[in-house]
Amino acid sequence: MFEELLKGWDGEQAVIRYDGASGAWMFVCIHSTALGPAGGGTRMRVYERPGDGLADAMRLSQAMTVKMAVANANRGGGKAVLAVPELPTGEARRRLLLRYAELVESLGGMYRTAGDMNITPADLDVVAERCSYVYGTTKNGGNSGIGTARGVLHGIRASVEHVFGSPDLTGRTVLVQGLGAVGAPLARDLAAEGATVLVSDIDEERNDGHAFVAPDAVIGTECDVYSPCAVGGTVNADSIPRLRCRIVAGSANNQLGGPADADRRREAGILYAPDYVINGGGVIQLVGIVDNGWDEQELEHALAGIGDTLRRIYRDADEAGITSAAAAERLAAERIATGAANR
Ligand code: NAI
Repeated sequence: MFEELLKGWDGEQAVIRYDGASGAWMFVCIHSTALGPAGGGTRMRVYERPGDGLADAMRLSQAMTVKMAVANANRGGGKAVLAVPELPTGEARRRLLLRYAELVESLGGMYRTAGDMNITPADLDVVAERCSYVYGTTKNGGNSGIGTARGVLHGIRASVEHVFGSPDLTGRTVLVQGLGAVGAPLARDLAAEGATVLVSDIDEERNDGHAFVAPDAVIGTECDVYSPCAVGGTVNADSIPRLRCRIVAGSANNQLGGPADADRRREAGILYAPDYVINGGGVIQLVGIVDNGWDEQELEHALAGIGDTLRRIYRDADEAGITSAAAAERLAAERIATGAANR
C-alpha cells in the first residue's frame, strides 16, 4: 500500500518511521518547499491501517501547500501523522512525543510543526524539548484561534464590500455557527463593528449574550453572512437551496460538501469565501509572531491581507466567469509556480 501511495503522490518527500516501542507509525509528508520550509500540524490518530495514516498525511500536506501559498506566509506545505494503535497517555505519550521530536529535528527545519487533531499545546511543549521547529506551544505563538478570527473578520468585510459595495458591517446580519476558539472572538469583534450578530452552538452555554439560533435552524435563517465556524460540509446540495444568506464566510475547514457545490452556490447567487483562504489567520499569526517577531500592529496588517487576497479572488472569478474556489486554486498555483521558478 505504501508503494502505491508514494508513486501516486506529487509531493517532495515522505519520511516514514516505525516506532517499535509504541507500535506507532510516524509519517512526515513534505508536499512542497517551493515557497519556504514546509509547515503544517501533527495529527495523532488511530487508523484502521497504517497506510490510511500515510494517505491522510499526504492529502493534508497538499492542502497546506495551497493554504500557505494564498496566505503569503513564505512557507510550503507539510503535515505529519502519528498513527497510533491507541491514543497514549502519561509517560508512554511523553516518550513517543520525544522520539517524534527527534525525527522532526533531524529534518533540519525543512518541516515545521504545530498542533492538529489530538495534539495539544502541552504536547507541543514536550516536542519542543527536543525539536526547534515547533509552533503553538503554551509559550510559543499563542492561541491561533484569535488570529484566525481576525482573519475571518477581514474576510467578511471584503466579502460584504464585494456584494454590497461597502465593507461597513453596521446593520449587516452575520450568523456565526460555533462559538469555540474562533467563533467566540469573531462574534465579539463583529458586534464591536456594529453588525447584528446571531450565534448558534450545540452547547448553548457558550453564548455570551448574542441572539441565539437553534443548531438545526441555522441553514434556513435569514442573514447577510453565514459564517460556519464549527464543522465542515455544511454547504452542500441539500443546504444550498435552503440558505437565506448572500455570503458564506467562516473558518471551518472543508465547508463545501464536494467540488460541484462551488458551482451550485454560485448559481444560487451566494458569494463564497474559500475556506482555506479566509481561515489562514492562525498560520499567519504563528509564523508572524514566532519567526518574524511581529508586534500586534504588524500582525494586524498581515491579517488584513486576507481581505485583500479575497478581493483579488472575487475580481478574478468575476472576470474569468469561474467560481471563487476555482479562482483561489488558480492564485495558489500561480504563486507556487513563481516560487518554484525563483528557487
Ligand atoms: P473549537 O473546537 O474550539 O469550537 C468549535 C465549536 O463549535 C464548539 O463550541 C462546538 O460546541 C461547536 N459545534 C460543534 N458542532 C456544531 C454544530 N453542528 N453546530 C453548531 N455548533 C457546533 O474549534 P475552533 O478552533 O473554534 O475551530 C472552528 C472551525 O475552524 C473548525 O472547523 C476548525 O477546523 C477551523 N479552523 C480553526 C483554526 C484555529 O486556529 N482554531 C484555524 C483554521 C481552521
